[in-house]
Amino acid sequence: MNRTRLVLFVVSILDYCVWIYGVHPDVKLNFIERAKRHGYPFEVHQAITDDGYLIDLLRFPRGISKSENEPKNKSVLLIMHGNGGSPHNFIAMGRKKAPAYYFADRNFDVWLICGRGVHCVNNRKHQKYDWNRDPEYWNFSFHECGIYDIAASIDYVLNATKQQKLFYIGHSSAVNSIFALLSERPEYNNKLKAIANYAGSPIITEMDYPSIELVCELSNLFKGALKILDFHEVFPRTIRDTINPILRLFCIDRKFKFTCKTLVMSFSSHLSYNIDEDLYEVILGDAPPRFASKALCHLMDNVKNGYFRFYDHGPKMNKKIYGHTLPRAYNISACVVPTAFFSGATDSIVLRKEMWKTQEYLNNTVLDYEIGPSFMHVDFLFARNATFKLYEPTVKLFNDINNGKIPPRIIRKRSNLN
Ligand SMILES: *[C@@H]1O[C@H](CO)[C@@H](O)[C@H](O)[C@H]1NC(C)=O
Ligand SMILES: *[C@@H]1O[C@H](CO)[C@@H](O)[C@H](O)[C@H]1NC(C)=O
Ligand SMILES: *[C@@H]1O[C@H](CO)[C@@H](O)[C@H](O)[C@H]1NC(C)=O
Ligand SMILES: *[C@@H]1O[C@H](CO)[C@@H](O)[C@H](O)[C@H]1NC(C)=O
Ligand SMILES: *[C@@H]1O[C@H](CO)[C@@H](O)[C@H](O)[C@H]1NC(C)=O
Ligand SMILES: *[C@@H]1O[C@H](CO)[C@@H](O)[C@H](O)[C@H]1NC(C)=O
Repeated sequence: MNRTRLVLFVVSILDYCVWIYGVHPDVKLNFIERAKRHGYPFEVHQAITDDGYLIDLLRFPRGISKSENEPKNKSVLLIMHGNGGSPHNFIAMGRKKAPAYYFADRNFDVWLICGRGVHCVNNRKHQKYDWNRDPEYWNFSFHECGIYDIAASIDYVLNATKQQKLFYIGHSSAVNSIFALLSERPEYNNKLKAIANYAGSPIITEMDYPSIELVCELSNLFKGALKILDFHEVFPRTIRDTINPILRLFCIDRKFKFTCKTLVMSFSSHLSYNIDEDLYEVILGDAPPRFASKALCHLMDNVKNGYFRFYDHGPKMNKKIYGHTLPRAYNISACVVPTAFFSGATDSIVLRKEMWKTQEYLNNTVLDYEIGPSFMHVDFLFARNATFKLYEPTVKLFNDINNGKIPPRIIRKRSNLN
């Protein structure tokens, strides 16, 4: 038996053990199975983007205890995950607690975008390219996720629901995506009632995360390495298929629980105390994520360049493409819809002061809300108390806007709930 086969053999045994010992009932389930188990009615739709990607839209039209003869013109809420995230994030906490369900239970018609590079339901991901084979498929960042995926989703959902406008929530780099869309296609301002930014800011100049900051400074080196290795994804498929069962095994055996937590927390620099132990299995069941290398590089460029800019091809190519050694800047001020920012007091990736820098360019910030005393980047999706710390104030804001009670501009609020 050669070495590769041995590795595969061991991996499949691990995988089998995970299957036997998996404690959380959601671990082995796909999106449809999970949503069914949670008991919410839902629908699968598909939109086609201008550049040929096929995007799943997962709709939760009503809450768990609601009848079919509810008002037909409910407020529509579109939710987008960040790079490395997926719609699974928004149902992971399960019945009544996960954000998709929380909003559906409160009379929102909830649509989750399954952006390019993420698997949800349909396997065909592009009209021309095969996502497992063609590097062209992975040629994107938050830019394309915004100007194509979100744009196509907004148009599809407004048409399907016969509404004029919708609410938008973006987590992490989905905030960058919506700002890219509004900068490049400002007519989309007219299709939005309001946007809520969860743990995201188009301007990110520093982080409380020295190792990632260093990588950002050295991003050209990093890009070079990815190019030499020919990695169009940060975790190519063979690596993913090997790591995934190991990760899952770690998270089931109590001895390894701490390692497992640390892996989840590699998305922040501190441990979260807000996530239930058994949820880690579900979170890591899908890890490591499929993540376009270019998407990671574009985010790093922005940290290095200290402003919200187009993709950085290096000074020479930039001069050719953008007419300047620095990449072209997005127009942040083009976002004129009511905008709310939700920050975590201990989020080490997107700091609150970065959101303030963004707000200096906006004329319509309606809420700046800090969640504390301890709330981190992933807590926006998975924290035990996210329901009343985060989703409840969001619902209140949206209902106020629906009722014409737009709050006076920039209310800075701090929640010190535990
Ligand atoms: C739905 O329609 C009713 C009656 O036309 C109206 O009062 C209500 O505000 C509408 N709701 C939304 C969310 O548009
Ligand atoms: C990636 O897309 C850009 C346009 O967005 C194009 O100019 C470039 O040639 C593409 N690169 C690859 C490797 O497909
Ligand atoms: C709009 O929705 C209707 C069904 O409600 C559908 O027949 C039509 O193709 C949709 N149009 C677009 C442009 O998606
Ligand atoms: C940016 O958008 C704002 C608001 O629409 C507009 O007034 C301004 O002229 C734009 N700036 C640039 C450089 O396009
Ligand atoms: C923000 O600026 C835009 C474009 O300059 C304008 O149309 C809009 O009314 C302004 N919004 C507020 C709340 O001042
Ligand atoms: C979560 O909220 C409950 C109240 O519903 C509170 O008793 C509990 O201490 C909170 N837990 C954390 C970890 O914040």
